[in-house]
Parts: sequence; C-alpha cells; structure tokens
Amino acid sequence: MDTPFDPETVVIVTGSSSGIGAATVIKFAEKGVNRFCITGRNEQGLQKTKEELVKVNPKAECVVVIGDIADPNTCEEIVSKTVDKFGRIDTLINNAGIFLYGSVRDAPMDQFDSIFSVNLRPVVLLTKLCLPYLEKTKGSIVNNSSTAGLKSFTNVSYYCMSKAALDMFTRSLAAEEMKRGIRVNSVNPGIIDTQIHYHAGFPEGKMESWLALHDEIVGRHGTCEELANTILFLSSKQASFVNGAIVTVDGGRFCSNLV
Ligand SMILES: NC(=O)c1ccc[n+]([C@@H]2O[C@H](COP(=O)([O-])OP(=O)(O)OC[C@H]3O[C@@H](n4cnc5c(N)ncnc54)[C@H](OP(=O)(O)O)[C@@H]3O)[C@@H](O)[C@H]2O)c1
Repeated sequence: MDTPFDPETVVIVTGSSSGIGAATVIKFAEKGVNRFCITGRNEQGLQKTKEELVKVNPKAECVVVIGDIADPNTCEEIVSKTVDKFGRIDTLINNAGIFLYGSVRDAPMDQFDSIFSVNLRPVVLLTKLCLPYLEKTKGSIVNNSSTAGLKSFTNVSYYCMSKAALDMFTRSLAAEEMKRGIRVNSVNPGIIDTQIHYHAGFPEGKMESWLALHDEIVGRHGTCEELANTILFLSSKQASFVNGAIVTVDGGRFCSNLV
C-alpha cells in the first residue's frame, strides 16, 4: 500500500512527551513521516519521544518546544520554530490535555480555569496561528477530545464541558475552512491506558472504581497505539473526504446502554 503521507509532510503534535501524543509521533514516523514538532513541559519525556522517533525512522528531524501550552508564547514558539526549520505545516494534532476530578459544588473556579486554559484556549490559538500554513498545504487538524465531550460524567463536569466545547470547535472550524481545503476532525477516546487518570486527583478508591466500571462495560482499556491509528487515518489522504467528524475510539462504550 502507498504511504498515505508525502515525504515532506510536517506534523505538530502537542502533548507529545507521553501517552497518546508520544504514540502518535511514533506511529507517524513508522509511516515514513520525517519532520515533526514535539512539545510539552516534561523535557525528559520529550527526549524519550525523540529517541524512539529516531529509532523507528532514522531520517526523522524534530523541533522540540518545551513549555506550558497555556502560555500563548509557547503556542507562538511552536509555530515559528516549526516554520523556521521546515518552511511548512501539514498536520496539527491538538492532543495536550488535563483531566481533573471535582464536582461543580466543591471544585474551585481555579480548576475550571486550569482545565479551559489547557484543553481549549491553546487549541484555538495554535489553530489560528497554523491556519495560514495549513491553507497552503491543504492540511488537516485532528483534535483529541473525549467521550466525556459527548456524555456527562459526575464529578468531572469541567473536563466534560471543555471537551464538549472542543467538539463544537471541530465542527464549526470544519465548516469555516472546508472551502480552503483544510479538514478538521476529532478523536474521542474512552478509557485509554495512560497516566492521565493518576494525575486527576481522584479521592482514594474512586479512580479504581471509575476504571473498573469501564472494564465491566467494555472488557478492557484502549491502547495509545489504537488511538494513534485513528489519528493517523484522519490526518491522511485516505480520509480526504472525512471532515467535521467526531470519531469515538472507546471499544463501543458510548453506544452501550450501561454507559
Ligand atoms: N487516557 C484516556 O483515557 C483519555 C480519554 C479521553 C481523552 N483523552 C485525551 O487524550 C489527550 C492525551 O492524554 P493522555 O491520556 O495521553 O495523557 P498524558 O500521558 O497525561 O498526556 C497528556 C499530554 O498533555 C501534555 N500537557 C498537559 N498539560 C500541559 C500544559 N500545561 N502544557 C503543555 N503540555 C501539557 C502533557 O505534557 P507535559 O506533561 O510534558 O506537560 C502530556 O504530554 C488529552 O487531551 C486527554 O484529555 C485521554
């Protein structure tokens, strides 16, 4: 089968220091993509992603931006360094995100601000900065949302709200940009094996029951590789007529009557 990516393709993946973002970079590299911008706050994590990237594709070149994506300067640096090095942008994967436990009654407004300042605002800013370049390459965007954007879950309302807003951003932007040849799609994972749940601040025992309920319904967690496969498909020429799609990758949980 032909590689679905041209050799000059340039891919930006936010939150590529771990989990789904890191797996996505590696999957792109396995498919022959050579030029990347990887970014996050964790320098060691980014170094690990870079080493694995070069192992699977020795030709791979990589811009590394270390910084907090909530800081607009980081978004600007991601775009300027990528364009300075490679002269183009083909694919933007808005993957960085945080998940925090807390009810509307108890969680402070600071938690609302933190979630929206990472899960939503930088997605919009980075997208705005990338659009002129994506227009030139007829490129595409994939946003990493969640089934929590499609269905309410108790005690994570701010997270659900951030992902619901992200889904509407995906659809609205797809509608705005289709005539310019830019496609915008979303992956909406269920429970995927990463560390995100361990950093959420669940009270003792709650994370285990949260994950156990998922296992009871679906039978297992998803893998980062399964997410990466879908992200790659949506980014590729093989998905050339897929636009504004909200694609659940959750083993079927969302359509279960036990959801
Ligand atoms: N795992 C799941 O079950 C699941 C389910 C639904 C949706 N998702 C979504 O999948 C995406 C990736 O999460 P993951 O599961 O792969 O978890 P993860 O391993 O914790 O990855 C999160 C990534 O986001 C980056 N990030 C977080 N806050 C940041 C900040 N302020 N500035 C810059 N980068 C930041 C992290 O980088 P640094 O730590 O280096 O800053 C990390 O690379 C998220 O958007 C999440 O909402 C995950």
